[in-house]
Amino acid sequence: MNPLEPISDFIKNPSSLGFERRPWKEPVRKYPRVISVSSGKGGVGKTNVVANLGVALTQLGKRVFVLDAELGLANVDTLLGLTPRYTIEHLFKREKTLKEIVIKGPGGMSIIPASSGTPELAALNVSQKILLLNEFKQLADYLDILLIDGGTGISSNVLFFNMAAQETVTILTPEPTSIASAYTLIRILSTKYSRKKFSILVNLASDEGEAQQAFQELFLQVDRCLKSPSLEYLGFIPFDRRICEAVKIQKTVLEIFPQCPVSQRFRELAQLILGKPISHQERGNVQFFSRSFL
Ligand SMILES: Nc1ncnc2c1ncn2[C@@H]1O[C@H](COP(=O)(O)OP(=O)(O)OP(=O)(O)O)[C@@H](O)[C@H]1O
Ligand SMILES: [Mg+2]
Repeated sequence: MNPLEPISDFIKNPSSLGFERRPWKEPVRKYPRVISVSSGKGGVGKTNVVANLGVALTQLGKRVFVLDAELGLANVDTLLGLTPRYTIEHLFKREKTLKEIVIKGPGGMSIIPASSGTPELAALNVSQKILLLNEFKQLADYLDILLIDGGTGISSNVLFFNMAAQETVTILTPEPTSIASAYTLIRILSTKYSRKKFSILVNLASDEGEAQQAFQELFLQVDRCLKSPSLEYLGFIPFDRRICEAVKIQKTVLEIFPQCPVSQRFRELAQLILGKPISHQERGNVQFFSRSFL
């Protein structure tokens, strides 16, 4: 099978893709988990975390879809060396459905291709958001986890995808500018959009001590100035030159260095995320995607 063929071509034989409805007897979560990975500052490793976490979750048997919130920049496709035939632009032009543009990425996870160099998609309007949410509803039976490469900063798309997701993983590095901008993102999401829980992942730390110190600084600032949001420390990903090597050849580190410590970190992160209980509030009225932020 050509991995770049649209999934719709194979829909008649979904088992060939591992793209199946669950058997009716299996006890299932009613809606997929939607997790956005975001940061206040750019270049902190979101796309690498999404890609590697996606592979690790797929290896754990989860049906993972990846969406690039920077719809006009195609970060994920580029990182993974994918050149899709159709992109999200075709969806918004009503030429293709979401199902028709999805392609297979590493490990068998499904990628929703963003468009390259399409500034019009930098701020979705309400009808585009409704179209996207409706299209996702059609896919709900086919995935367990939607991972969103949630973009940088506080643009309208970034805030929309962060709030439409039930869970937010905020990435920071030990640099003061990264900690400060993570705080700003958390402040806006908690004060303007009432998000109460944030999972924090520290990337590019030299060791556990440095990562915990970065988390502690963020925690103290949130505690001092905001009070209400709670932060959960998800651990850290160390600086590892193998990630840079993988990026250069447009692969994930899990594919080319599966046995190295940083790959093991991504597997542990996947297990940690899967083991996290989802509170009633998170599952309750948000369903697949929350619609209250249109
Ligand atoms: N743990 C790591 N060890 C070494 N290099 C890393 C690590 N994480 C990310 N990098 C490198 O940092 C750079 C930025 O990573 P990435 O593109 O994932 O960040 P991003 O947050 O998605 O950036 P942007 O905000 O531009 O979308 C890449 O060149 C990548 O190779
Ligand atoms: Mg990126």
